[in-house]
Amino acid sequence: ADLRKVEDWLQPFRLSREKLREVSARLRRDLIRGLGKHTHHRAPVKMLPTFVRATPDGTEKGDFLALDLGGTNFRVLHVRVVEDQQKVLKMDSKICAIPQEIMLGPGEQLFDHIAACLSEFLESLGLKGLTLPLGFTFSFPCEQKDIDKSILIRWTKGFNCSGVEGEDVVGLLREAIHRRGDYDIGPVAMVNDTVGTMMSCGYRDRSCEIGMIIGTGTNACYMEEIKNVKRVEGEDGRMCINTEWGGFGDDGSLKDIQTEFDVEVDRKSLNPGVHAFEKMISGMYLGEVVRLVLIKLAQEKMLFGGETSEALLTPDKFETRYISEIEEDATGLDRALEILSELGLPAGQEDCEIVHLVCSTISTRSSELCAAALATIANRIRSNRGLDHLHTTVGVDGTVYKKHPKFSQRLHAALRILAPKCEISFLVSEDGSGKGAAMVTAVAQRLAAQSR
Ligand code: BG6
Ligand code: GLC
Repeated sequence: ADLRKVEDWLQPFRLSREKLREVSARLRRDLIRGLGKHTHHRAPVKMLPTFVRATPDGTEKGDFLALDLGGTNFRVLHVRVVEDQQKVLKMDSKICAIPQEIMLGPGEQLFDHIAACLSEFLESLGLKGLTLPLGFTFSFPCEQKDIDKSILIRWTKGFNCSGVEGEDVVGLLREAIHRRGDYDIGPVAMVNDTVGTMMSCGYRDRSCEIGMIIGTGTNACYMEEIKNVKRVEGEDGRMCINTEWGGFGDDGSLKDIQTEFDVEVDRKSLNPGVHAFEKMISGMYLGEVVRLVLIKLAQEKMLFGGETSEALLTPDKFETRYISEIEEDATGLDRALEILSELGLPAGQEDCEIVHLVCSTISTRSSELCAAALATIANRIRSNRGLDHLHTTVGVDGTVYKKHPKFSQRLHAALRILAPKCEISFLVSEDGSGKGAAMVTAVAQRLAAQSR
């Protein structure tokens, strides 16, 4: 077997510029569909109102708690917002592990676990006697009725707890805290991680009006004109919309670009038929796509002398972080050799080169699909405002974007082609979305105080 033959074989993973433009145009149609009146239960791209209307004005202040659930790590934070300086200080934070049985068990157990982590955290800081307001970054699709009322539409990624879908997440958290009875929390603001990320970059850069995550899952939010959001009253001003673009393609609109491997990853996932776009892009799935391709190449005698191994045949054994390691310029091929031998595969120089080619093909597809989607959003903001040129900033987070050595570069390059009239800067979020969630809480408190 040689590289050329594999190169041809990988063709279905390569998307032409034309195809990417088409994908972007399809998403544009779906954004508009999602913004419509009562279509959200059927719309593949849900376009969820977040009730975040205002960015900080500098008068916010105080101490807040923040929870951050749904990415790689569950975090609890204590945050201080300082008046005037537009500053959010992270006072303390702690990562708590969530065992897989809890991620897949009854919802009550999940919220008891969260409440217990928060209790330990408050205890260790001597904050138990205070009743602090709390910003809750909850990275799943929720139908929000208000900033503190948020109904889980469905679990995505690695969570699947019973009894939570269709319920108010703030209610479940409060109930769990009251079951313990050893502390209490003040008003709660619920935010998606995209929103927390946008807000946490927002106080560093006022033109940050898009938030994007490319991590375990993928998603973006942006500031939309309220008059276009048919499910929310009002004509003036803007509201942040959580697009849930991971669901793009769930009505079959991406069938022409899905490969047999994407179909297989979906079939074996926790949520078959849900989040087609996400499964071609994000960290929870990229390693699996690569693994399935490697198996097929071995079976077709183009790799590992036709051999597979028990490890290669085991789901999730080819981790997404391997892709990042293998694509490092100086060290990638050596690392490939190490990884393949750890997986019990007989690999030579040529095998390593082929594996590298597979990784870069699949991660390139991911970055270009993200670029197509981001181009759609930037162009929408531009045309909403009747601008010929748009300057804007995207707040970004997620392990794939941050850790893959070429991802951001490829995304930016494709974006320049797909959104030539938009000049887009990227601001990588520092310390995650917890600070942003606290900021949303602070703004909500200011607005509530003003209307009293
Ligand atoms: C974190 C944010 O930094 O990034 C989370 O605080 C977010 O809210 C996460 O979910 C996304 O990245 P990953 O790779 O951990 O899923
Ligand atoms: C999934 C979730 C979404 C979240 C994204 C990134 O797509 O449904 O709410 O923003 O992952 O974490």
